[in-house]
Amino acid sequence: MLEELRLEMEAMAGRIIGRRRDFHRRPETAHNEFATSAALRDFFLKTGLSVAAMAGTGLRAVLDGRPGGRTVALRTDIDALPLAEEGDKEYASTTPGACHACGHDGHMAVLQAAAEALARRKDRFRGRVVFLCQPAEELPPGGAKPMIEAGALDGVEAIFGLHLWQPMPTGTVGAVRGPMMAQSDNFRITVAGRGGHASMPHQAVDPILAAAAVVSALQSVVSRNVDPLQPAVLSFGTIRGGTVYNIIPGAVELSGTVRTFDPDVQALMKRRLVEIARTTAGSFGAEAEVEYEDGYPPLVNDAAETDFALAVAARLFGGKSVVPIRPVMGGEDFAYYLREVPGAFLFFGAGDGTRFPHHHPGFDLDEKALPSAAALLAGLALEYLARPG
Ligand code: NI
Repeated sequence: MLEELRLEMEAMAGRIIGRRRDFHRRPETAHNEFATSAALRDFFLKTGLSVAAMAGTGLRAVLDGRPGGRTVALRTDIDALPLAEEGDKEYASTTPGACHACGHDGHMAVLQAAAEALARRKDRFRGRVVFLCQPAEELPPGGAKPMIEAGALDGVEAIFGLHLWQPMPTGTVGAVRGPMMAQSDNFRITVAGRGGHASMPHQAVDPILAAAAVVSALQSVVSRNVDPLQPAVLSFGTIRGGTVYNIIPGAVELSGTVRTFDPDVQALMKRRLVEIARTTAGSFGAEAEVEYEDGYPPLVNDAAETDFALAVAARLFGGKSVVPIRPVMGGEDFAYYLREVPGAFLFFGAGDGTRFPHHHPGFDLDEKALPSAAALLAGLALEYLARPG
């Protein structure tokens, strides 16, 4: 059955790639995925599935096989990034300021192909496959939580998802049993001083100098406060302040992200961030106000379902395609589903011939990975439903 599925997907390669390119041409950012959602809805209806809208632009499509049996869910994210695409792809984004620079266009095309292949086989399996099309993966608090609250996982006994992964060679598959992706929080620090003339700094409180000291001092949290054997990241993403060269501004705003796996480390990072920002700014006569927002929780794969998923991959593509990987500090709101039901999230290599990482304006993926990724998703559903009991 798996080999037949693999060959069928290879034969569908042109259609899968074509759909991915259509999504790529018309990217829509978090919560604005209206045309994307409408296209997916039409597709599911044409393929004979029932579809319900949820969480704004989200969809839950259901495929019933023979009566009885289990229920398994497959998930794709559907949003693009607020990023202007670079490069001269024939299928480049036609939406100014938006771009599928993470591969979610590929995830949708892969899920569609899996749905088609499974729909053709619905007389050959018992149970139900639920297809979740989830908005806003890129924008915390994300779309997974509202999907779950709207009933996305009702009756679902296991869930699987994958991310096409540029850092890995095309056709390789990897997953970590247990914690695989990080808790990803964000923070904003406002350093307030007192503005004035740049030539008379003694009459002002310079928030630029204080903010620079805050940025430097916070580098000591990971290096001096966190257990060296615990993963942790603190990075700044923005620093904004001032209008012109000869004015000391009144305030500077910084923002950044904290990534952790362990809740105690997260609490420590949060506490030290506030303490160091306040006291460091204070030592310059400035004031720091910190806003801290908890983001996606760590993504924790179920060990048994991860073994199962990698075993299916090995049967589809050969044992050598399954490669050991380490956890990454990236965040992913698939984590929320895995807190409700067992399952696994996999990285599917799509890096051959590519030059730019995820979230880069020139990002692309190797489309040769798409049929195989589709075979894996469909294979996971079929093999899961074929389990006794
Ligand atoms: Ni992504």
